[in-house]
Amino acid sequence: MTGLANEYHAVNLSQGFPNFEPAEELQDLVGLCLRDKSLPSVNQYAPMAGMPMLREAIAEKVLTCHGVDVDPDTEVTIGVGATEMIFDAIGAFVWPGDEVILMEPCYDCLRPAIDLVGGKTVVYKMKPPEFKINWQEVALLITHKTRMICISTPNNPTASILRKEDMLQLIELVKNTDILILSDEVYEHMVFDGEIHESPLKYQELRERTFSVYSFGKTYHITGWRVGYCIAPKALTTELRKVHQNVIFSVAHPLQKAIALYMQRSRDYLELNLFFQQKRDLFLEATKISAFKPLPCKGSYFQLFDYSAISVEDDFAFCERLIKTHGVAAIPVSRLYSDGHDSKLIRFCFAKTDETLIKAADKLNLIQPSI
Ligand SMILES: Cc1ncc(COP(=O)(O)O)c(C=O)c1O
Repeated sequence: MTGLANEYHAVNLSQGFPNFEPAEELQDLVGLCLRDKSLPSVNQYAPMAGMPMLREAIAEKVLTCHGVDVDPDTEVTIGVGATEMIFDAIGAFVWPGDEVILMEPCYDCLRPAIDLVGGKTVVYKMKPPEFKINWQEVALLITHKTRMICISTPNNPTASILRKEDMLQLIELVKNTDILILSDEVYEHMVFDGEIHESPLKYQELRERTFSVYSFGKTYHITGWRVGYCIAPKALTTELRKVHQNVIFSVAHPLQKAIALYMQRSRDYLELNLFFQQKRDLFLEATKISAFKPLPCKGSYFQLFDYSAISVEDDFAFCERLIKTHGVAAIPVSRLYSDGHDSKLIRFCFAKTDETLIKAADKLNLIQPSI
């Protein structure tokens, strides 16, 4: 969709990345780190698990944000974005024939990773508009082959969040099993309307079996740097690092140092909830007179719209027409269900400047129903 958006010079609200700059201080730190002559040189390989100073800064952040103690040496691993950490966790623990429960729609890198290692994806389909998980229904999907359950909060693309009651039900579900949990929390600092981010890290019964993955790309508006991390207990981390070591070895050293120094100076991620809530609200207000129907958005930087009052086209065809005829790019949600389920929903990314959001809204408001 981004390719098509560029071709047609459309306002691109499709792919999930900001069109504004990261903090200047963070950018400056990269330049400073590159020329820093102190040892060890950041122009050579970083330690396999990640720079100790960055892992320590992460441990401090987890303590501040979640009140949870993690050991930076044995429980934190720096990866090439959350995506690599997801792949490594699946690669280390899912074996041919193992079953992995996926809550769909979801981030599109999960299923290919499961396929690649010969695992079997077992889908739990979340339903609009709330996309709540019915844990009794999930329980029916568990077999003796279930190796892992993947959760994501806040969720891409649904913008739904998991709450404490979800965590409590998940504890019951996995009690007395050896099922692992892969918890994608890359939008942890984008939770709205006074809700709080719930991480399995906060629950001892879940923490001991969970890989929690995070993304500096999302938190610092630097998706192009490709730096993320995973927090998991020592035994799980040891195995995850074997995949990491042999696929990647280590992550860009200067970027790690710059992020670590920045984390020591700033806690600006604590302002992100409000920053993105204001963007959500601006986009919703600006599109209020359109024929699109917004779905609830509790977190992430995505807003779903129902377009069924405008067209009967499938969501892919609708998105193509949206770009070519109306000059706005979105993502068809069917592409984030493995069976291509079409609920006439499209996803907009509102991690954009206010001007971009208003420009897109002006175009969306002009679209007339064609059914
Ligand atoms: C839910 C989710 N997880 C993970 C990622 C990827 O994170 P990273 O860019 O750090 O690999 C994304 C990116 O869109 C995402 O939406």
